[in-house]
Amino acid sequence: MQIFSTPAEMQAWSDARRTAGQRIGLVPTMGALHSGHLALIDDALTRTDQVVVSIFVNPLQFNEAADFDGYPRPIDDDVAACERAGVTAVFAPTAAAMYPAGFQTRVVPGPLGDVMEGPHRPGHFEGVVTVVAKLFGAVRPHVAVFGQKDYQQLRIITQLAADLEFGIEVVGHPIVRDLDGLARSSRNVRLTEAERSAAVAIPNALDAAIDAAVAGNVDDVVAAATSVLAAEPAATLEYVTVFDAVTLVELDDLTEIPHVRGVARIATAVWFGDVRLIDNRDLYER
Ligand code: PAF
Repeated sequence: MQIFSTPAEMQAWSDARRTAGQRIGLVPTMGALHSGHLALIDDALTRTDQVVVSIFVNPLQFNEAADFDGYPRPIDDDVAACERAGVTAVFAPTAAAMYPAGFQTRVVPGPLGDVMEGPHRPGHFEGVVTVVAKLFGAVRPHVAVFGQKDYQQLRIITQLAADLEFGIEVVGHPIVRDLDGLARSSRNVRLTEAERSAAVAIPNALDAAIDAAVAGNVDDVVAAATSVLAAEPAATLEYVTVFDAVTLVELDDLTEIPHVRGVARIATAVWFGDVRLIDNRDLYER
């Protein structure tokens, strides 16, 4: 497995692989790899000949310095995990290599970035889209695999790839969950034991919402999720929203949509102590 630390080295490797007729898969990450990331790598391995994992904690997408500083960076463990998983190259640039002196371009998402997480994390998606455009330019993949846990991010990047003609297939991989249903996230390691136990309220809240969705009243759906979270003293709810799975526009009437998979989703953001967790599910996945 090779490790590259500059976009130029990465591009040279990718160009050689492309010339040899090989298909390149990219799994973009900020490191602290867990089994959710390994599932994305496995997915990319089934679709392409060579899989690149990028590991870069992108300063542009953090709203709070404390969140950026506290983000876990176990780079040696991450590299070892990539090697074991069958990755052919790791792209782990420094911030100076990604954003050298004079760097000034920003890629701004459209309306998909204005809803849900957007108002709560100003500038976040601009930072994500800018770095993903750079990762696409450095790695030049045929396929890029992202997790559905960051569903809004996945939709925004799918739109980015289409709008800017990157010629990259963006794949959304299903959320990987712990046995109790909590979505795997690099942030979970920052939960105390008590917070980790309490965090099961998130999947429980989404379950309750999905049960309520059968009747088709959106207020009842939101209330079902909210009441589960309100009953957990360690949880501070930021939002629960029911939205169109493609446009991300908030839905206020479920009677006008077909109750089938892929049409509507529910998402939430919840704080446990100083850790902010997000999750989402298809409202009619059952
Ligand atoms: O989802 C993430 O880990 C990050 O937002 C990404 C896509 C790697 C960009 O920094």
